[in-house]
Amino acid sequence: MADATGNQEAKDYGFDTPQKNTVYELKGANHYDWGMKDRLSRVFDPKSGKTVMLAFDHGYIMGPTSGLERIDLTIVPLLEHADCLMCTRGILRTVVPPTYNKPISLRCSAGTTILTELNDECVGVEIEDAIRLNATMMAVMASIGGKYEAVTVRNMCKIIETGNRYGIPTLGVTAVGKDLVRDARYIGLASRVCAENGAQVVKTYYCEEGFEKVTAACPVPIVIAGGKKLPELDALNMAYKAIDQGAMGVDMGRNIFQADDPIAMIKAVKSVVHDNATPDDAFQMYNDLK
Ligand code: 5RP
Repeated sequence: MADATGNQEAKDYGFDTPQKNTVYELKGANHYDWGMKDRLSRVFDPKSGKTVMLAFDHGYIMGPTSGLERIDLTIVPLLEHADCLMCTRGILRTVVPPTYNKPISLRCSAGTTILTELNDECVGVEIEDAIRLNATMMAVMASIGGKYEAVTVRNMCKIIETGNRYGIPTLGVTAVGKDLVRDARYIGLASRVCAENGAQVVKTYYCEEGFEKVTAACPVPIVIAGGKKLPELDALNMAYKAIDQGAMGVDMGRNIFQADDPIAMIKAVKSVVHDNATPDDAFQMYNDLK
């Protein structure tokens, strides 16, 4: 306990040095409150401004897909290499050790699976449980242009509303329905709708034509999903082009955990995202580590 007597006299007031206001550089985030910025700076490395999120939430719609049959065996060894973990609360509570202290992007919407009709979702995790789990970000699917557009945008707005109340950012995840084309026009519209409704981060797909227009017109950071497994060099190439065209990171699953060597792959992806390694250099690194 501080003593009331015998203390040194205060004298270091730095009269010649005005107090500096810091700018929080993450895209669109400078006016957020402190807690929101603190959480975002756990997701996006403050040095590079980028993130490599490891997505392994696929089971909530796909069940035990390849590479996720035993998350304790395949994913836990990757955790230390990821900047942020994207998963469901079921896997978080049962399999992810609480000792890693990695930021969590918690899957908070749930509904139909690949057995029926995708995208008919509700808010599956309420804010109290997200806080109890120490979630850093809440992830919600928005099916823009699909049959469940209105219901999923409502879910997203509800999660954003409660997240804002407690300083927890929301990741709007754009879902692409069967009949929608993954082109810049669609992806740009879907990403912008998420941001306009207040999502602090948007997860979407890379597209070969016009992706720089998608990122330019989205006022918050975009992270790309990896999608179906590609040859490793192609996946590194996609990550490189996405970052080069304005993405702030990847939220990648199958292209990491289904790679021949997942640890080598996540390290190679990190070198592209954080260190601007070229795809060829990153692929060399992958092969050297393998
Ligand atoms: C599932 C998701 C996944 O997190 C997302 O698709 C990322 O994984 P992948 O890189 O395997 O596509 O949002 O709904």
